[in-house]
Amino acid sequence: MTEEEVEHGILGSPNPGAQSLCYARHISDIEVKLSDKNSRHFTDISQGKHDMEAQDLLSKLKRDRVLQKLGENNITRFEIPWSDGGINVSDRLHEEYLNNFCHKFESDVQRLIDKSLQHTVKEKAKEGSLYKEVLHHLWFCQDKCEAFRGREDILEKIQTFLKDFNRSEPMVIYGSSGSGKTSIMAVVAKSARRWLGDGTVCISRFLGTSPESSSIRSTIASICLQICEVYSMDAPKADILEDYSQLIRFFHALIASLPVSNVRPLVIILDSVDQLSPTNNAHLMNWLPKKCPPFIKIAISVLPNYHDILTNLRRSLPIESAYIEVPMLTIEMGKEILDAWLQGLGRTLTEEQFELVLSRFTQCPQPLFLKLIFTEASRWESYTNVRGLDLGSDVPQAIRLLFQRLERKHGKTLTSRALGYITAGRNGLTENELEDALSLDDDVIDDVYQYWDPPVEGVLRLPNLLWARIRHDIDEFLAERQANGKTVIAWYHRQFWEAAQTQYFSDPNEKQSRHSLLSEYFQGKWGGGRKKHITLTRRKKTLADADRQVSSQPLMFSKRVFNLRKLSEMPFHLIHSGHADRLARKVLFNFEWIYGKVRGQSLNEVLEDYSLALEVRPDLDVRCVMV
Ligand SMILES: Nc1ncnc2c1ncn2[C@@H]1O[C@H](COP(=O)(O)OP(=O)(O)OP(=O)(O)O)[C@@H](O)[C@H]1O
Ligand SMILES: [Mg+2]
Repeated sequence: MTEEEVEHGILGSPNPGAQSLCYARHISDIEVKLSDKNSRHFTDISQGKHDMEAQDLLSKLKRDRVLQKLGENNITRFEIPWSDGGINVSDRLHEEYLNNFCHKFESDVQRLIDKSLQHTVKEKAKEGSLYKEVLHHLWFCQDKCEAFRGREDILEKIQTFLKDFNRSEPMVIYGSSGSGKTSIMAVVAKSARRWLGDGTVCISRFLGTSPESSSIRSTIASICLQICEVYSMDAPKADILEDYSQLIRFFHALIASLPVSNVRPLVIILDSVDQLSPTNNAHLMNWLPKKCPPFIKIAISVLPNYHDILTNLRRSLPIESAYIEVPMLTIEMGKEILDAWLQGLGRTLTEEQFELVLSRFTQCPQPLFLKLIFTEASRWESYTNVRGLDLGSDVPQAIRLLFQRLERKHGKTLTSRALGYITAGRNGLTENELEDALSLDDDVIDDVYQYWDPPVEGVLRLPNLLWARIRHDIDEFLAERQANGKTVIAWYHRQFWEAAQTQYFSDPNEKQSRHSLLSEYFQGKWGGGRKKHITLTRRKKTLADADRQVSSQPLMFSKRVFNLRKLSEMPFHLIHSGHADRLARKVLFNFEWIYGKVRGQSLNEVLEDYSLALEVRPDLDVRCVMV
C-alpha cells in the first residue's frame, strides 16, 4: 500500500474507525537477517543496510499518524521472528500467525460490515427514501445544466408559458431521442425560481433515472409525499400510496387544495414520460391532470412515436399551443456547443478536422449526434488524417462505430459481453455485479487468459482493470442510478440501449445466454466459493477448481436486511432466459420467494413480476386474478 493510499483511505477519511483496519506486523529479528536476499521484500534496504530515512518516515506514518487516528479496536499487532525466506508457512509459528491473521481479518471485516448495515438501516429510516429520491433528481438536474449552451428560443417559450397563470393546461415538450429534451427540462427546473420568484416550489423528476421514478404509481406517490412535506400537509396513508386508483384521486384532490399563490406557485416537471413502465396503463396518460388550479404549472417531456403517448395526449389535451417541439440545433449553436466542449477539455481541432465535424453535424443537427462525433474528435491528434473518415450520419450509426472502436481497443468478446450484460440488466447492474458476471462468463475468461495463466491458483476472475478501461471510454454515455439501495450503471440514452440490442441481441440465443448467466448469478449458483470448471482453449488447460469469487446472493443478509438486488433482478432474468420451469419453481409458485419479496419490497412489485412474465411468455400456465 502506498503512503498516498493511506492518506486518502485512512487519514483523509471522516470516519476511519468505521471503514479502516490496520494490521501491524513486526519481524523482531529482521535487523540481523538483512543479508537474506528476501529481506528486501519486508523492509527498506539501501546498500546492504537498513534505509534509516525510509524506516523513520514509515514508523512516523504508522505510529504517529495511522495508529493514533484509528481506535484500538481496529488495530491488530503481530510479532514474529524471521524464518527461512521471510514468511514461511511450513514454520509452525508462521503458520499459526497466518491462521490468526486470516481469522482476525475475517471477523474484523464482518464486524465492520454488520455495523455499516445497521447504520444504513437506521439512516434509511431516519432520512426516508423521499429525501434520497429528491436529492437524486436535483443532482441529475445540476449535472445536465453544467455543459448546457444556447436554446434561448425554446427556453423563452417555456418561461412565457410558466408565467402565464391564466393557462391551466399542462405543457408538453417533445422531440426525437437525443434532441436535448432532458437538458432543456433540467435548465427549466433550475430556472423556475428565477423566472417565477423566490417563493416558487419546483418539483422535478427525471423519469426512469431512479427505480422510484420508473413506474407511474411510485412517481406520483413520491411527488404527493414531497408536496405534503413542502406545504406542511398530512401525508397520505400507506394504503392510498399503494393503491393506484386511490392515489391518482388523492393527487388530483391534493393539487386542488394547495395553498398556492402568485408568490408561492408550484411547478411540477416530469422529464421523459416515455421512460415510465407500462404498468397501470401509464402511457394512456390518464394520470396527468389536463387542467390545473391557478398557480400550479405542470411541464412534461416525451418522445414522439413511442408507446403512442403523444397521440394519447393530443386526444385528451387537444390544445395545440400546449405542445412545443424541440427544434434541431442551428449550425451556429452547434459551433458554440462544440467550442465550449473543446474548451472544457482544453483541446483544439485543426481547420480540416473542425470542418469534418461540422459537415457531419449539418447532416444530423442533434445534440446527441454532436456529442458522439465530438467524443471521437476529442481523441484526434493535430496530425490525425481525417480525410475519408467515417463518423456515421445519424445517432445509431455513430453509436455502432463507437461500439466497434471499443471492440477493437478492448477486445470483441470482452466488450460485447460487458455491454451486453449492462443492456440485459433490469435496472442496470452494479459494477460488482458486472465484474462477477464477466468472471462467470467462460468465453470472456478464455479470451482474457489466452496469453498468461490466472495469477492466483484456484481463483479465476476478470482483472478489474479491464472493465475500468472500457468504462473510462464510454463513461459519459452511462448513467449511475440508484436501484434497490445500490448504485447501478445503465445506458443513459434510450438510443444506446436500442443500438446495443441491435448489435448484441439480434440473435435471440445471445440475448438468452446473457439473461441465463445473470439468472444463475442472482440465484447464487456459483457464489460462496463454489467452483466453476473451465477449459482455457487457447492455453489447452482445464481448471476444475476455478473459484470465480462471486457473491453468494442469499435472499436475506441478516434477519431484517433483504437482498433487494436479487429480489428485483432474479425474476427478470429468469423470465427472459427462457427457463420456464425454473421461473415457476423459483419465483412464480415459490412461497418463500413471494413472501420474501412482499416483505422486502411490496405486493406491487410481486404483481409486476407476474405481469412481466405474462407479457414476455404469454404461453405460461399463469393467470393473474385480481379480487
Ligand atoms: N443545449 C445543449 N448544450 C450542451 N449540450 C447539450 C445541449 N442539449 C443537449 N446536450 C447534450 O446532448 C446530449 C443529448 O441531450 P439530452 O439528454 O438532453 O437529449 P434527450 O432528448 O433528452 O435524449 P433522450 O430522448 O435519449 O432522453 C447530452 O449529452 C446533453 O448533455
Ligand atoms: Mg432525455
